[in-house]
Amino acid sequence: QFMSEIMGLTVLENRIKETLQVENVIVVPGNSDDAEWVKQEMGKACVSYLKKIISPNATIAVTGGTTMASVASVMTPFELENNCLFVPARGGIGEKMENQANTIVAQMSRKAQGDYRLLYVPDPISDSSYQNIIQEPSIIEVLQLIKNADIVLHGIGDALTMAERRKTPHELREKLVEENAVSEAFGYYFDQQGNVVHKVRTVGLQLEDLESMKHVVTVAGGKSKAKAIESYFKHGTSNVLITDEAAAEQILRDT
Ligand code: G3H
Repeated sequence: QFMSEIMGLTVLENRIKETLQVENVIVVPGNSDDAEWVKQEMGKACVSYLKKIISPNATIAVTGGTTMASVASVMTPFELENNCLFVPARGGIGEKMENQANTIVAQMSRKAQGDYRLLYVPDPISDSSYQNIIQEPSIIEVLQLIKNADIVLHGIGDALTMAERRKTPHELREKLVEENAVSEAFGYYFDQQGNVVHKVRTVGLQLEDLESMKHVVTVAGGKSKAKAIESYFKHGTSNVLITDEAAAEQILRDT
């Protein structure tokens, strides 16, 4: 039985706010590990939240993953006078096409009736290619848009789950295990204390860019992600966590 049936979701939200030290928390019922519709509920909560904070001509940078894909699937128009622009936060980081930030921004903009730009960069990228590609005018232009985004929308993954899904080389996976990596966001891997233990070299938004963003919106749920969420929020910049009941309850049990 869910604790929140007794406590109520608002109580749960307030306790998570205190525990993770985050300004805003939205908790939807259920466990997205078990039911796809719960991810869509988080998506709907995210779209409603965006409608509250968005301003005309806003640029929204978005990461990849199934949670962001769910947000895209329930996106609706913002009804603003001026269009919003969706950009991928980072280059492809080894995900399947439907989970790539490029694909997700294209779908989000179609559903929101906005515009989008894509970022074509291979991953992982060698240092020499990286140095060349960031000189390309078309890449520079998209990077400018990303770094000056008004809103960042991102997911959090369980570190080893993400490493596996991205077909990360064996040596690197071993390194992640040795360094006790717990969470992943933006291509960065963090340990339980929130320290960066590895960073995927790809073009796009870097962790330090988050400091200057007006709004950072984090969407992550499922009981299996509780530890990952706790880890990200140890140091992670975010104005709001949109999560589900099962993750929220597990976070409270852990602390
Ligand atoms: O960076 C975080 C991951 O992309 C989250 O992926 O939403 O499929 O769990 P997920």
